Amino acid sequence: MSPPTHFKLNTGAQIPAVGLGTWKSEPGEVRKAVSFALKDGYRHIDAALIYGNENEVGQGIKDSGVPREQIFVTSKLWNTHQPNVKEGLQKSLDALGLDYLDLYLIHWPVRLVPNDTSDTLPTNPDGSRAVDRSWDQSETWRQMEEVYREGKVRAIGVANWSIPYLEELSKKWTVVPAVNQVELHPFLPQHELREYCAKHGILLEAYSPLGSTGAPLMSDPDIRQIAEKNDVSAATILLSYHVSKGVVVIPKSVTEKRISSNKETVTLSKEDLAVLDELAAKGKAKRINTPLFGWDLGFADWYGSVRSK
Ligand SMILES: NC(=O)c1ccc[n+]([C@@H]2O[C@H](COP(=O)([O-])OP(=O)(O)OC[C@H]3O[C@@H](n4cnc5c(N)ncnc54)[C@H](OP(=O)(O)O)[C@@H]3O)[C@@H](O)[C@H]2O)c1
Repeated sequence: MSPPTHFKLNTGAQIPAVGLGTWKSEPGEVRKAVSFALKDGYRHIDAALIYGNENEVGQGIKDSGVPREQIFVTSKLWNTHQPNVKEGLQKSLDALGLDYLDLYLIHWPVRLVPNDTSDTLPTNPDGSRAVDRSWDQSETWRQMEEVYREGKVRAIGVANWSIPYLEELSKKWTVVPAVNQVELHPFLPQHELREYCAKHGILLEAYSPLGSTGAPLMSDPDIRQIAEKNDVSAATILLSYHVSKGVVVIPKSVTEKRISSNKETVTLSKEDLAVLDELAAKGKAKRINTPLFGWDLGFADWYGSVRSK
């Protein structure tokens, strides 16, 4: 059986199962990568204001010649814009050169307060991030619901939200998040979060599916073994893991050959999925993306006990 090409959001809209990630895609590279991907058949681009390259992502979309309405475009509200969602959204729309988004996510459940050190990644004198710990995320969500109702974004969701955060928000939401985009791969399978999101009709999206820069998960011996057995690359196994489980995956690449092959997923057997699902519990648990937002806030739960502050 061929793997699914799309999933359905709780809004009723379809989202392509594989999208192109754009974090750390350098200016000068990302325009070409986006344009190539769209010409090559991708219809889903994952962007964010903080990536600092939405301008070029937008140019790549235009260069491709693919009509806007055929493309699913996601962007994310940066932490410093939490008190003013409209402003953050407009910045992304202007940079991308678009008049609506298909999906808009709260990037982290953390408000950062700009100061003299930075407008985007401000720090306190002790070097920690300038987090506003008193900020109520339900206020950010209320404003997300507002831009959704105004039609500037066709779906709204969150990123990096653990179960306690979602539980708290559920007391106030009138629109259930369509998506929770989190770090997800065999070393961080987040089984409980998966169950929770399924129960509430929130679609999961897997970020850093290859282990982020340099795709380190591809060299894991267990993953390589499954790749050999299926006669595909380790990247194909890592991406197919999600699609086979009903999860959207957004691999980043600026290399044409990789962009092309990353969209070709395969259906994995129950046995292979079970092996991948168990790797973290068998000692390989690892989170790769650990920004300095104050992990004691518990915004993104993970397997294992090591936390960076
Ligand atoms: N919401 C969030 O907080 C959040 C956080 C992290 C990421 N994301 C999103 O998720 C996307 C993906 O995550 P990511 O960028 O961290 O990492 P990733 O997709 O796991 O890995 C990207 C790395 O893998 C390489 N690569 C890609 N395909 C490959 C292949 N077939 N064979 C070998 N190497 C390959 C890329 O190299 P080349 O580019 O040189 O080909 C790059 O170095 C991001 O771009 C972003 O859109 C969201």
